[in-house]
Amino acid sequence: MLHSTLLSLLVAVAVQAPVAPQPKHEDIETCLACHSNTSMSVTLPSGETRGLFVDRDEFTRSIHGGKLGCTDCHTDMTGVPHASKPFSTKREFTIAYYEACKRCHFANYSKTLDSVHYPAIARGDRMAPVCVDCHGAHYVTPPNQPRSRISQTCATCHQGVSATYAKSVHGRALREEKNADVPTCTDCHRAHDIGGPHAPGWRLKSPELCANCHTQSAMMKKYNLSTSVMQTYLSDFHGMTASLQKKNGTEGGQVVALCIDCHGVHDITKTDAPNSGVIQANLLRTCQRCHPGATTNFSSAWLSHYEPTFKNAPLVYAVKVSYRILIPFMIGGLVLQILLHLWRVVVNR
Ligand code: HEC
Ligand code: HEC
Ligand code: HEC
Ligand code: HEC
Ligand code: HEC
Ligand code: HEC
Ligand code: HEC
Ligand code: HEC
Ligand code: HEC
Repeated sequence: MLHSTLLSLLVAVAVQAPVAPQPKHEDIETCLACHSNTSMSVTLPSGETRGLFVDRDEFTRSIHGGKLGCTDCHTDMTGVPHASKPFSTKREFTIAYYEACKRCHFANYSKTLDSVHYPAIARGDRMAPVCVDCHGAHYVTPPNQPRSRISQTCATCHQGVSATYAKSVHGRALREEKNADVPTCTDCHRAHDIGGPHAPGWRLKSPELCANCHTQSAMMKKYNLSTSVMQTYLSDFHGMTASLQKKNGTEGGQVVALCIDCHGVHDITKTDAPNSGVIQANLLRTCQRCHPGATTNFSSAWLSHYEPTFKNAPLVYAVKVSYRILIPFMIGGLVLQILLHLWRVVVNR
């Protein structure tokens, strides 16, 4: 009797503690007096059983360990025994409890309201993720360490995309070489305000995602890749049309070629790989998706991103060089002629 009064007193003290997180081991021990029992569980009306065991060691090792007490999240746990909560399924329970994270991580919480997942959460889709589906509740550890952990988190629900990504030039470099330069899911989609192809304007903005890295000379030099891919794309018909559509907000009309239409998205390969959509043997097929009448001439006449050089396009290069010589020569001649003319006028006076 005395024991349980003491307990509820301790619990009451813990609940009234200030919001600012501070070590509260005594609070943890209060709760763990019961919740360290591995066999503790409840059966919900749905028939599902829910374990009530919390692992002390794992909790202490987590990012919140030593900083948060149980009641920093379970703010309504004011007394023992607890009133039984009216949740009929495990999922209802999770949806009600995850809001606890919002108290201290409000910025992350408000970002999730803009996520592609949010409408699905709001309409009750049980598969759509909330904080604890990606981070867990009691054993939260740094979500980006190692970096390959990020795509594994998304992979729990997006197996297909994640498996494709893992085999791409980007995914392999991350997996096999622990390369931190290549993009993972959250570099393109972000982690909390996740964007996707059904959001208006998102697809048309995708070239900027690629340009974030592919125009950085310090990064691209390491892989001997051209940094003019964005600039050459923009000065090409496809890029020009795409930027016009973006400016006018007229997405959805004509389907213009974006980086991802030629290179793929989650399946991007090295440009000389046999399965690359942009290798010369496959290029025509890539063009034909939108230019059904295209023939070999069509694709081979196109200069891709490259600025013409003597090697890859001698004729275009020659014309370009001769213009560079011819135009200054002609303008110079014109100016000279005018000057001579003026001189004559002055001298003849
Ligand atoms: C005297 C033992 C005991 C102590 C101490 C105790 N709990 Fe519980 N807890 C229980 C039991 C039993 C249940 C199952 C209640 C039920 O029937 O739903 C439970 C359930 C819970 C649940 C799930 C709620 C639900 O709706 O099922 C949470 C969360 C919880 N406890 C947190 C805490 C926290 C936080 C503390 C410390 C402040 C704590 N408990 C201390 C016995 C205890
Ligand atoms: C960082 C916030 C946070 C802290 C700290 C925290 N919990 Fe929880 N707890 C949650 C959330 C969120 C859930 C719901 C998890 C779910 O549904 O997957 C939960 C669920 C529970 C449950 C129900 C069973 C389960 O594991 O899902 C129990 C029991 C519980 N917590 C006890 C505790 C105890 C005891 C402590 C202290 C050692 C504690 N919690 C600390 C956020 C927290
Ligand atoms: C009472 C305040 C509080 C609540 C509630 C809370 N956290 Fe935290 N959280 C913190 C603090 C403080 C840190 C920083 C720990 C550090 O940096 O050492 C942190 C760190 C984190 C990190 C790691 C950040 C990083 O930089 O790697 C994640 C992820 C996280 N919390 C997720 C959650 C989730 C999920 C919930 C809900 C289940 C939650 N937090 C609830 C206070 C809180
Ligand atoms: C779809 C999965 C997913 C959901 C849902 C999610 N997160 Fe995250 N979160 C991540 C990933 C992945 C990272 C690491 C991102 C990175 O480093 O690029 C992260 C990073 C964090 C961080 C540390 C970095 C930062 O931005 O401060 C905190 C704190 C955090 N999340 C809290 C939360 C909270 C609170 C919620 C719920 C409101 C939540 N997360 C919902 C996947 C998720
Ligand atoms: C717990 C399961 C789950 C996890 C984890 C998860 N997702 Fe999702 N995701 C979904 C569901 C369900 C949908 C479909 C939502 C809908 O129907 O509107 C979705 C939709 C999406 C879409 C939009 C797809 C489209 O066709 O418009 C993108 C993009 C996305 N998720 C990215 C991510 C990323 C990135 C991560 C990791 C940071 C992640 N998801 C983690 C369940 C999940
Ligand atoms: C280099 C940038 C990039 C990376 C990295 C990336 N995505 Fe995407 N993702 C996109 C683009 C662009 C689209 C739109 C594709 C389209 O509309 O054809 C997309 C579409 C999606 C879709 C919806 C369409 C579909 O194919 O189902 C989901 C879900 C998705 N991505 C999840 C992920 C996950 C999970 C990861 C990590 C394993 C990831 N993405 C990595 C850029 C990226
Ligand atoms: C976060 C930075 C980053 C982003 C974002 C990014 N990439 Fe990359 N990409 C790289 C790096 C680094 C490599 C070199 C990887 C290697 O060779 O190991 C690479 C390699 C490539 C290659 C292979 C080139 C070759 O022949 O070796 C192509 C093609 C490519 N990326 C296209 C894209 C496209 C298209 C997008 C946008 C949808 C994109 N990338 C987004 C960093 C990025
Ligand atoms: C119409 C199709 C098409 C579009 C659109 C396109 N590319 Fe390419 N890309 C190619 C082809 C073809 C090659 C290979 C050129 C060659 O080897 O001659 C290539 C090569 C590359 C390379 C390798 C460069 C190197 O130095 O080896 C990268 C990186 C790249 N593209 C990124 C991008 C990015 C980023 C975008 C959007 C801004 C984009 N591409 C738009 C067809 C396209
Ligand atoms: C996703 C669809 C798509 C793909 C793939 C695509 N194009 Fe286009 N392309 C277009 C659209 C739409 C236009 C019209 C843009 C405009 O009016 O400026 C266009 C215009 C052109 C033009 C300008 C002349 C004309 O016929 O209108 C050429 C040349 C061209 N594309 C070449 C190519 C080549 C070469 C490839 C393959 C490497 C290719 N395209 C792949 C959609 C695509």
